[in-house]
Amino acid sequence: MNLTGGLHWHWRAWRADVQWAQTRIEIENWLQVQAIDKDHLILIGASAGWMMSSAWLSRFKYVETWDIDPLAAPLFKMRHGSALRRQGVRLKCNTGDALTQLPMLLREQPRAAIFFDNVLGQIRFQTHTINQTENRLRTITKALRGRHWGSIHDRMSGPVERSWMTTPAPVAHTLALGAANEVQETQRWLGHMGAKSPWLDHLTGEVFKEGTEVTHMAWPMQPDYWHWLQAGWVTP
Ligand SMILES: C[S@@+](CC[C@H](N)C(=O)[O-])C[C@H]1O[C@@H](n2cnc3c(N)ncnc32)[C@H](O)[C@@H]1O
Repeated sequence: MNLTGGLHWHWRAWRADVQWAQTRIEIENWLQVQAIDKDHLILIGASAGWMMSSAWLSRFKYVETWDIDPLAAPLFKMRHGSALRRQGVRLKCNTGDALTQLPMLLREQPRAAIFFDNVLGQIRFQTHTINQTENRLRTITKALRGRHWGSIHDRMSGPVERSWMTTPAPVAHTLALGAANEVQETQRWLGHMGAKSPWLDHLTGEVFKEGTEVTHMAWPMQPDYWHWLQAGWVTP
């Protein structure tokens, strides 16, 4: 099942330009300060790059995108193609299941950096049980050992008491992940977002190892249903 692809998703993303602006800027600011010494970027779950920054992509010589949604490739080229061309960046947009093909992609492109662009939190909807989700995520992170990779993903999502129009979203917050601060950070962050029960755990709590520096951001995906995003970068 693909809840974030297809015409409906692109229509919603196009209409949400203003509503998603703060999150988009926070993602760009976070990406810009990551030290990534690579020329080739593989972007998985790229969609049309609604939340992605052309300026950041222009730091690479070659950007390769992957998405299972057949509309993603033409729309991504439409949104980012000319900016990348102007900067001399080669762009290749692929349609297909990059998560299943990940071991092959990693083998074929041993020097590329990999960025999971808000896709790992979707695995919860593509598997039948919590165990299956956790195992799939574990298999993915295991395959990435020794690689430069990053991810921004849903940590949790759910209804909120506030309106994005009247109460600004909490600003991005960076911390080192740790068992000692996990419960405290979850409560603090959900409180800041005005979360109203029940919230969905996207089971991404172990994507990054303890000690990884992560940045938490609020994403008012719908006016009354928000996502808590977690972003991090791993260098071997
Ligand atoms: C939340 S959207 C990503 C938004 C996107 N990063 C942006 O800035 O617009 C998640 C995307 O992941 C894609 N996706 C889900 N499973 C995938 C898979 N196994 N391989 C490649 N793409 C996948 C979906 O089609 C969807 O476009």
